[in-house]
Order: sequence, then C-alpha cells, then structure tokens
Amino acid sequence: MILLLGTRNKGKIRELRELLADVKGLELLSVSDVPFSEVEEDGETFRDNALLKARAISRETGLSVLADDAGLVVDALGGEPGVRSARYSGEPVDYERNNALLLERMLDITDRSARFVIVVSLRLMDGREYVRQGVLTGKIVESPAGSNGFGYDPLFVPDGYTCTLAQMTMDEKNKISHRRRAIELIKEVLLEISGSA
Ligand code: IMP
Repeated sequence: MILLLGTRNKGKIRELRELLADVKGLELLSVSDVPFSEVEEDGETFRDNALLKARAISRETGLSVLADDAGLVVDALGGEPGVRSARYSGEPVDYERNNALLLERMLDITDRSARFVIVVSLRLMDGREYVRQGVLTGKIVESPAGSNGFGYDPLFVPDGYTCTLAQMTMDEKNKISHRRRAIELIKEVLLEISGSA
C-alpha cells in the first residue's frame, strides 16, 4: 500500500516514518516525492480541517493520504485558541507572540485546565475514510518554562507531571503526546487494512 503524508513539516514526516516503520507492505511518500498544493485550513473543527486536507491532497495526487490538524483547547476561553492555534496572534506564525497573548487572556482565570487535541485522517484511493483523535490533558502555567519542543509547549504541564512539555526531552514528550496516541490508533487501522487486503 502506498500512502502519501499530507504535511510539509519535516519533523512530522520523520516522526510518522518512525512510528509507522513496522507496518508491513506500507510505502510512505512525502511532499518531496509527490508535490502537492497548499490547502487552506478554513474548517471549524480539527476534524473538518484534517479531512479537508486529506481529501484535497488525495484528489490532486490520486493517492491515499494521511493528514492531521492539531491545536490547544482552553475551556475557560471557550475553546480558544482551538483551530486557530497556529495563527492565534496573527500572521506570520509566531509561537512567542501566541504564548504571550494566551497568558494575557488567562491573567484573571483560575481554571487553568487545557488540552492538546489532534485529529488524524486517512483517506484511501477508493474513497474510504478513517478519522482518529488523540488528546493530552493538562494545565496552563503562569509563565513560560523550558526551551524544547514547539508552539505552546513552554506553557503546558501535562496531568501527572510538574514540568512543562518544553522541559521534557523529545522522547519523553513523544511517549505521552496527543500526536503519538492518534498515530497509534491510525496504525491499528493501517494494520487492519493491510491484513485484510
Ligand atoms: P498543527 O496542526 O500540528 O500544525 O498544529 C497547529 C498549532 O497547534 C501549532 O502551530 C501549535 O501552535 C499548536 N500545537 C499543536 N501540537 C502542539 C504540541 O505538541 N505542542 C505545542 N503546540 C502544539
């Protein structure tokens, strides 16, 4: 089975290749093998955006595609930054400015609970679609800590931990991350599909 990874992010491509390495008979292609156009992520939910990307790239290339959409959800802010996580404080994407805006909006908020959510979508050439979700729950701290990772990592302490994701090594984060969980679930789908093929 040939599967095109619907992302331009080199870190994600590397991680996906690692996590899916043991699915027999799976050949992974990326944008450097099969170029595809930028897809506008204008859906209202992570699920909408993940499906939008997988469908558009599959239509353009004629291949089966794995795509995802992720972000941070803060209940006390009505779900913000949500699907706007990357561009929360405007264009161009700036993680530090996003973090500063989030802390400012949470100044007087005592309920600091938050979660990272990712939705991974798999669209096969024959039109079958599978969607899986990964969630990591935790709390938003009052000032940034740590320099590893990316995005909102310096502000997020996972439940059961006392340090932020940015204070963990990549391996530690990847063991518990929302992304890891969703990929494991999609991997089960891929194993099932390739087993039944
Ligand atoms: P993407 O859909 O995976 O590109 O994620 C969109 C945005 O959500 C990123 O630009 C980050 O701001 C945020 N985000 C998603 N996953 C993470 C994470 O694991 N750590 C920190 N921020 C994240």
